[in-house]
Amino acid sequence: MKILGIETSCDETGVAVVTSDRQVLSHLVLSQIKTHQATGGVVPEIAARAHLDHLDHLIHEAVKQAGLDFSDLDGVAATCGPGLIGGVMVGMMAGKAIALAHNKPFLAVNHLEAHALTPRLIEDIPFPYLVLLVSGGHTQILVAEDVGQYHLWASTRDDAVGECFDKSAKMMGLPYPGGPHLEKLASHCADLKKAKHQFPFSIPMKGSKEIEFSFSGLKTAMRQVLDKTDHTPENLAALAASFQSTLAETLSYRAAQAMEKFCNAYPHKKDPALIVCGGVSANKAIRTELNNCASKHGFTLKCPPLEYATDNGAMIAWAGVELLQQGRTAPLSIKARPRWPLEELKELV
Ligand code: KG4
Ligand code: ZN
Repeated sequence: MKILGIETSCDETGVAVVTSDRQVLSHLVLSQIKTHQATGGVVPEIAARAHLDHLDHLIHEAVKQAGLDFSDLDGVAATCGPGLIGGVMVGMMAGKAIALAHNKPFLAVNHLEAHALTPRLIEDIPFPYLVLLVSGGHTQILVAEDVGQYHLWASTRDDAVGECFDKSAKMMGLPYPGGPHLEKLASHCADLKKAKHQFPFSIPMKGSKEIEFSFSGLKTAMRQVLDKTDHTPENLAALAASFQSTLAETLSYRAAQAMEKFCNAYPHKKDPALIVCGGVSANKAIRTELNNCASKHGFTLKCPPLEYATDNGAMIAWAGVELLQQGRTAPLSIKARPRWPLEELKELV
């Protein structure tokens, strides 16, 4: 089975062709980072126009690089939400048009589900598994019971963790998107212990038994520290390292609670897996912290390779494979959705 996948929900135009036996035949991502650096963040209207400018060419190139014609495809998958609605509509309409013109099934992919299924593109990870989804727009802990079946166990009261990285990085004068730049700055800190002593941050709502996230307080704390600190390169590197370490500890603190809950809910599950996905899962300090935490709880940490961690077409194509295998094709009348919680998947398709 060969599926074309189209991703346009934020600021990456991603197109890929993936097979049901886990081969990525082509995988193209055009980042709009330079376009959005001038404004320090994604302007939805500009993002949608940029997708429109480049998508046709990328689709033709991806199909060509896969050594296929449109007629060889078994289906066309596109992100139909959640995301910036202008961009979502561009990719969705392109996908529908190809499906209609070549008489192929259309697969309406939920962007969050695509992130949660991406590690299965690499290897067979049996359901159920625990998912920590950390991106620019979402911070959630979910149980994936099957394709289309998710239980939401935790989300954020305010900012997503990626947003917290990006906004704090912006305050530090780093370019957009802040996450990877903050990570790079933190790597210049030679002594993390000293940095944490010099610039202490605390895990939000520590001690609360409720599994939930909140990141706006950390962002405010960063503002306050920056206001009373000399912005020397050493101080900024130490500040970035301490801040990043607190974000990593926060995620692993809540993941630990969720792993305990998972063991109680699924007592017979052998070799449980914790999947970490979404753009922030590219962060090495976070991966290391979560890896240690998962092994302590008898879980194996599974992260997508870095190139599939941030938004891309291969994850959409793979989600399309999984949907088609279950016969979950979508009518061409399906609408783009700016909000599309994973728990609503069952009702929709
Ligand atoms: O999943 P994604 O590509 O797009 C959304 O669906 O939001 O995630 C983008 C987010 C941004 O906030 C970006 O700063 C963050 O992922 N990110 C990182 C790293 N790479 C990307 N955050 C921390 N460290 C990184 N290395
Ligand atoms: Zn994403």
